[in-house]
Amino acid sequence: MLISVKPIAISALLLLLTASSLCFTLINASKSSDPIPTPWPKQFHSILFMNNTKGNLQVVDLWYDYPNGRNFNIIQNQLGKRLYDLEWDNGTSYYYTLDANKECRVMHFPVGILRPNWLQGGNYLGQRYMDGFLCNVWEKVDFIWYYEDVVTKRPVYWAFFTGMIAHVMTFEVGKVLEDPNWQAPVYCFKEAKEQEIDSFVSHDVSMGRLMGAAMDVSLLR
Ligand SMILES: *[C@@H]1O[C@H](CO)[C@@H](O)[C@H](O)[C@H]1NC(C)=O
Ligand SMILES: *[C@@H]1O[C@H](CO)[C@@H](O)[C@H](O)[C@H]1NC(C)=O
Ligand SMILES: *[C@@H]1O[C@H](CO)[C@@H](O)[C@H](O)[C@H]1NC(C)=O
Repeated sequence: MLISVKPIAISALLLLLTASSLCFTLINASKSSDPIPTPWPKQFHSILFMNNTKGNLQVVDLWYDYPNGRNFNIIQNQLGKRLYDLEWDNGTSYYYTLDANKECRVMHFPVGILRPNWLQGGNYLGQRYMDGFLCNVWEKVDFIWYYEDVVTKRPVYWAFFTGMIAHVMTFEVGKVLEDPNWQAPVYCFKEAKEQEIDSFVSHDVSMGRLMGAAMDVSLLR
């Protein structure tokens, strides 16, 4: 039996976000002269340096592949576990290791992967320097603060409301991970070992899906 979890947290989050984005629309609308965030390329590879709220450091290989309806975060924890977070647009996520422990969790979310224009409608906050780059900054539904290089239009940095931050180290437009790498291991499709879900799939790992939920709601307004 596969373990599948429908996080109740997402429904609660959706409600909250609906309420907050309605309020936001009433009290503040972006000026038409504000810069527009550059949509994500349909396919890219990025290496992210991340620091979560507890100060744990991670290097994340992000493979965004919108035409194929898939998104991959390969998460290397500092001197720790290498975790594969494979997201499909149909809402299924596979979290697994490729080590001797053969861990895998399958989760189902009510949202797909992020759309390339997920940042549209964000609240423009002006220009700031980040990591030595002059950036345009947007905030979206109190979930993410996003810094984009004014000159190259590449993302430089983002921060989540949890305090987790990402520095964008590489940004390779059009780079695609080959198909065989998108196959979850066979033990994801077998009897799953009993294990506390929270010990394996941390809150941080589901960030992409939570963000998807947040952005889907914000696009409804
Ligand atoms: C990571 O974040 C923690 C908490 O904000 C901070 O104390 C620490 O210096 C950060 N580490 C790095 C390498 O940026
Ligand atoms: C979603 O797609 C993936 C990859 O094709 C597949 O493994 C998974 O079973 C699908 N999930 C659902 C709910 O259909
Ligand atoms: C509206 O958004 C601007 C940034 O574009 C911000 O400085 C201002 O405080 C916001 N006003 C309200 C009432 O939220």
